[in-house]
Amino acid sequence: MRDYLRVAGKAAIVTGSGRGIGRGVAMELASYGVKVMVTDINDENGLRVKDEILAAGGTAEYCHCDVMKVEDIKNLVQKTVEAFGTVDILVNNAGGGEPPCDFDTITDERWDHYIRFNLYSAFFMIREVFPHMKAQKRGKIVNISSGYAIGGGDFCAHYASAKAGVIGLTTSIAKEAAPFGINVNVIPVPTTDTPGLREADFELVADEIPLIPLGRIAVPEDVANTVLFLVSEAADYVTGQIVAPNGGKRMLV
Ligand SMILES: NC(=O)c1ccc[n+]([C@@H]2O[C@H](COP(=O)([O-])OP(=O)(O)OC[C@H]3O[C@@H](n4cnc5c(N)ncnc54)[C@H](O)[C@@H]3O)[C@@H](O)[C@H]2O)c1
Repeated sequence: MRDYLRVAGKAAIVTGSGRGIGRGVAMELASYGVKVMVTDINDENGLRVKDEILAAGGTAEYCHCDVMKVEDIKNLVQKTVEAFGTVDILVNNAGGGEPPCDFDTITDERWDHYIRFNLYSAFFMIREVFPHMKAQKRGKIVNISSGYAIGGGDFCAHYASAKAGVIGLTTSIAKEAAPFGINVNVIPVPTTDTPGLREADFELVADEIPLIPLGRIAVPEDVANTVLFLVSEAADYVTGQIVAPNGGKRMLV
């Protein structure tokens, strides 16, 4: 029998995997035999996801990590290597925005916070896993950006700017990492039904559905399926790409 994905047995870190898209990605990868380091700032949620994976017959560990803290990131990568022997896959998922606001009301502190939360965090994580991937001449990195990074955000200039930065980070590192067999891609996630969205601006979702050719907003599994492909050996020749599971809302990105 042939195996299209060839991901079973690989070791992955999925940041912010205690709920929402991160949880969906962790569950999906684990269901295909990937050993998953679940990590979050919310230990209760993170441990629950780890237990869900174990209950389904998968392999998972949990490590607390605030992606805004470099020391937490160093500890996370060390714990992953101790648990699984290496890091083959990194999914930079942790991030987020806040309810819409006019750009001229964004304070210095909020600007700084959202750039750090969404952009610095991805850079710190990649910098930390890179030596391990480089040494084994193999690795898959997927960065979670947002459709707002491409189409403009609705009243969230700080978040959209940070997520646009994630695209520049992706393409730049993809070039530097390619000689080492490391693929780096980015998903501009569309509106997706997660706890984070429901806490932020869920009432705007109804207005968006008529603009989506496939007629619904995304669910975490839609993003997880795309991540699964990008971290698999089926995507060995895909790097530096923006891959958009967006129901056709924006075509030819
Ligand atoms: N849901 C959407 O509509 C949507 C759209 C575009 C992009 N995205 C992006 O997708 C990613 C996941 O979004 P979501 O909707 O699943 O979010 P969510 O809020 O539902 O879940 C985010 C998870 O990250 C964790 N987290 C928060 N701060 C953290 C930190 N400092 N360090 C580590 N973990 C932390 C939370 O505890 C939570 O478990 C984010 O990067 C977000 O910007 C989401």
